[in-house]
Amino acid sequence: MSKLVFIETMGCAMNEHDSERMLAELQTKEGYTPTNSPELADLILINTCSVREKPERKLFSEIGEYNKLRKNGAKIGICGCSASHLGAEILRKAPAVDFVLGARNIAQISSIIHRDKAVETDIHEDSSHYIFAATQSPSKLRARINISIGCDKKCAYCIVPHTRGKEISIPLDIIIAQAQKAIDDGAKEILLLGQNVNSYGKTFSAPHPKVDFTKLLSELATIPKLRRIRFTSPHPLHMNDTFLDAFARNDKICKSIHMPLQSGSTKILKLMRRGYTQEWFLERAKRLREMIPNLTIGTDIIVGFPHESEEDFLQTMHVLEEVRFDTMYSFIYSPRPHTEAAKWENDVPHSIASERLARLQERQKEIMDANNQREIGKTCETLWEIPREDGLMEGRSDNAKIVRAPLRRELIGQISAAKILDSRRTYLIGEAI
Ligand code: SAH
Ligand code: SF4
Ligand code: F3S
Repeated sequence: MSKLVFIETMGCAMNEHDSERMLAELQTKEGYTPTNSPELADLILINTCSVREKPERKLFSEIGEYNKLRKNGAKIGICGCSASHLGAEILRKAPAVDFVLGARNIAQISSIIHRDKAVETDIHEDSSHYIFAATQSPSKLRARINISIGCDKKCAYCIVPHTRGKEISIPLDIIIAQAQKAIDDGAKEILLLGQNVNSYGKTFSAPHPKVDFTKLLSELATIPKLRRIRFTSPHPLHMNDTFLDAFARNDKICKSIHMPLQSGSTKILKLMRRGYTQEWFLERAKRLREMIPNLTIGTDIIVGFPHESEEDFLQTMHVLEEVRFDTMYSFIYSPRPHTEAAKWENDVPHSIASERLARLQERQKEIMDANNQREIGKTCETLWEIPREDGLMEGRSDNAKIVRAPLRRELIGQISAAKILDSRRTYLIGEAI
């Protein structure tokens, strides 16, 4: 009988992709099969996120839970960003753990499982090993592809540069080959991943030819059977005219973009070291909306950053009104080790930060309701992905809205037009035509 692996994934799309690749490696090299039941698994992997403190604190109670239910002889490995930044401390605090594998070291998964109490967390390792398990699971409609790893920015609140190391772009020919393989295996859409996708190529030197993100997009668009390209996350600072034009002009690129605002106050943006102002952000969003009428925009916002006054917060609310985001991830600032802001006095009391978060989210709900209502009567290209148990199927429109419609099995895996008949806050209801 083949060995079973259970993987729990926290955090962002990057981590989900890392989990996919570790699984592919374990399947092809070590003969593992995935399971959804940790109590049956021979290997339990927790792929962790350390971007905020609270989930990281919960990690240790979770390890305790898995330790109780694991079967005799099963191993527990901690991977990902918390592994990078806590390293051997995890073994000290949680003796149940068998190994620790950092976010930049996941290529070593098939060797570390055979070692005892091993810790691999070198964030300075170069990229060559990282392009491992170029394996995309066959016939997945959406294939994730890393285009860069690490991050060279120094946003004052963010631990990611410390967990994923310095930024390296993956050579163009490797990305194209991975995309081609995914398409040959049945994918219709590719999702390009990086912390700053639009700074792609900045680290290239000979022998790799100088290419940038817009060049990468145009090269990918020439793959005949590739229908859709998405990417996450671009950095608002690098949204220059060349980028905007390439994004708008290329009709294989889905008309949905993530613009992580973080704060609407130029004063706070400066303290955060984001490199742009409120005016720049608003001007870029306005320009994009003019160029692409059906564009949807998503964002990330942090409230309660040190020195955020009520007036600063109102500036964030102002941007919300101006841009009318379609999706928003919002968080209370969480001081993280190894970051600049962790050394500052956190002068916004938690009660005020949570009250601001509630106001922000309340208003955002209304905006999402109104935005989705405006889709009623429109027609959108939808990639139908999931047959549901309630007689509906679910897909994504080309501007990244979730669409549900009466199930037509022959359309699963296909792109077709959908007429939108009704809306909810987080999805649209329509019929395939
Ligand atoms: N590279 C992406 C962000 C990756 S982290 C970018 O530049 O936008 C994902 C999100 O987590 C961030 O956009 C931010 O909103 C949030 N985040 C990061 N550090 C945080 C912290 N210390 N406290 C609260 N939220 C944080
Ligand atoms: Fe973190 Fe800033 Fe890098 Fe994004 S750009 S990963 S927020 S340091
Ligand atoms: Fe992603 Fe969390 Fe790491 S957001 S990059 S898994 S810290």
